[in-house]
Amino acid sequence: MSKYIDMDIATLRGEPKRRTGHSAASAERFTFRPPNVSDGPAVHALIRSCPPLDENSAYCNLVQCAHFAGTCVAAFRDRELVGWLSGYRPPEDPETIFVWQVAVGPAARGQGLGDRLLDALLARPACSGVRRLKTTITADNKASWALFGRLAERLAAPTSREPWLLEGGHLPTGHATEHLLTIGPFPAASQRP
Ligand SMILES: CC(C)(COP(=O)(O)OP(=O)(O)OC[C@H]1O[C@@H](n2cnc3c(N)ncnc32)[C@H](O)[C@@H]1OP(=O)(O)O)[C@@H](O)C(=O)NCCC(=O)NCCS
Repeated sequence: MSKYIDMDIATLRGEPKRRTGHSAASAERFTFRPPNVSDGPAVHALIRSCPPLDENSAYCNLVQCAHFAGTCVAAFRDRELVGWLSGYRPPEDPETIFVWQVAVGPAARGQGLGDRLLDALLARPACSGVRRLKTTITADNKASWALFGRLAERLAAPTSREPWLLEGGHLPTGHATEHLLTIGPFPAASQRP
């Protein structure tokens, strides 16, 4: 299984790239912080602008901002929300951080903001003791496979992949199967270089 995903990521990385090289100057323009409940409407609007992400209810985004702020990351450029990552630590799996959604607004793409959102998450005190990251991705979401593939490379961590939430079973027909990607184990933040 691990071999399969490693090959998949390598294949993706061999494809022609839209852009290369993220300038430090452009990256410096972003600021990152935990969200608060006032960010809820902007988070909802950002996710709506980022297909193929599922559009959750406005209420869901408010609860994420209020109760899961420690494991959610909001990125701003000139006070405008342009990046968002939601996640949580499953209570039954305390060494894992589950990444629910990553969204970079169309106007902020091409500068590696998705990578920085993930790195900001893993550096959070709320991720202390985390040794695995899990997320789900549909088979056709190349940008997402590439995003998490790069994270596995930065962490020098093994990966595995398996179909989890199935189209026509857990999910309605028309919603592609979500594959569970696991990255890890990797060293806890305090032990990473
Ligand atoms: C996935 C997403 C967060 C990435 O945004 P980003 O961080 O701005 O990504 P960038 O444009 O800076 O690209 C970063 C790298 O990914 C590569 N990449 C971007 N889109 C790609 C695609 N469709 N296929 C393959 N590689 C892709 C880029 O070539 C770049 O690689 P490089 O640094 O080696 O040049 C953004 O595309 C997005 O919000 N998509 C919609 C929502 C979504 O699918 N989220 C996924 C997880 S839930």
